Amino acid sequence: MARIVKMTADRFEAMDGIDIEAWSDWATKKFGRAMQFPTKKPVYGTYLDGDPDGSFLALDDAGDPVGYIFTRTFGKVGFFGPFGVVPRAQQSHVGKDLVRATVDYMKSRGCTTIGLETMPETAYNLGLYTKLGFQLGTLTLRMHKELGPGGDELPSNVDVAEQPDDALLARVRAISESLEDGLDLSKEVALLRKHPVGACLSYRRGGESVGFALCYAFPETVGLYPPSDPENLRVRLLAMQAGRCEQDDLKAFLAAIESYARSRGRRTLTIPIYAGYDAALHTLYGSGYRVHDGFPSLVKLTLEPYRLPHPDGVLCYEWAG
Ligand SMILES: CC(C)(COP(=O)(O)OP(=O)(O)OC[C@H]1O[C@@H](n2cnc3c(N)ncnc32)[C@H](O)[C@@H]1OP(=O)(O)O)[C@@H](O)C(=O)NCCC(=O)NCCS
Repeated sequence: MARIVKMTADRFEAMDGIDIEAWSDWATKKFGRAMQFPTKKPVYGTYLDGDPDGSFLALDDAGDPVGYIFTRTFGKVGFFGPFGVVPRAQQSHVGKDLVRATVDYMKSRGCTTIGLETMPETAYNLGLYTKLGFQLGTLTLRMHKELGPGGDELPSNVDVAEQPDDALLARVRAISESLEDGLDLSKEVALLRKHPVGACLSYRRGGESVGFALCYAFPETVGLYPPSDPENLRVRLLAMQAGRCEQDDLKAFLAAIESYARSRGRRTLTIPIYAGYDAALHTLYGSGYRVHDGFPSLVKLTLEPYRLPHPDGVLCYEWAG
């Protein structure tokens, strides 16, 4: 039986080995050819610092690390991932023990929405999570665009913050709470202060920020879903205040994010969106985005039925690493 211990930064190296082995094995089976999945090293620090008491490692009888899991709590919304177990230790309940540890943590933090996203084509994972009592929702699509030539200047109502201040974080909190019960995305944006992996763009109206987008731009390829390479700008979070923003605002904000991407020398943009946000999904299609070919979607699962208070709103994020 595995022993579950807290994750610490000095264990990242060992955990990185587990992550690459578990995900390379999964990718090799999925794509039918030998594949090495890229590292997630540049973002491990954001995962650990976001929820240090919800990050765990599983040790085998010899004390060697064989599995890991990160929990992410965004206010009352909690999910886990990335998550992996080395192939030699799979099918022996290491994964289930790690999931139980993360669920206990989320409950102790007062999360009322507890879930995850996983690959819908992976029977193993669907069996694992539904046996543990998670209920299936719909898909979070990975929307992708090749940018092509165009402007690289920002409109006057869009600001870029590499070090978000307290005033911006307060607006991030208000915007996220307007969209989903108890959702607070400000902690994730605040992590930029310690981990400079990108910037937070904010969309103002009448002097007040009514939308924001946390964008990551990595200097090397990072094994997200899909992997993000040095040509890619990855939108980690994008939200616009319910009741104050319409789809036209999303369209304008997307154009500004694309200009920002070009100004950083990026040629592609990736944005996740839960398909329940139908209006925003169609705005993305209208702006030239397509579902990513190789990594099209993850399916959302929750312990309680998942409810979208504002399905006409604008909220783009994923429950995955
Ligand atoms: C997903 C992963 C972390 C699970 O870890 P694990 O230690 O192998 O999982 P466990 O042994 O604890 O549990 C597996 C469960 O799935 C069940 N399962 C597997 N295939 C199944 C199927 N086709 N139908 C139904 N149940 C199935 C097993 O029966 C077992 O449940 P049981 O104990 O009740 O029999 C591991 O397989 C992994 O690293 N995969 C690659 C990366 C990945 O997918 N990460 C998670 C992304 S969300």
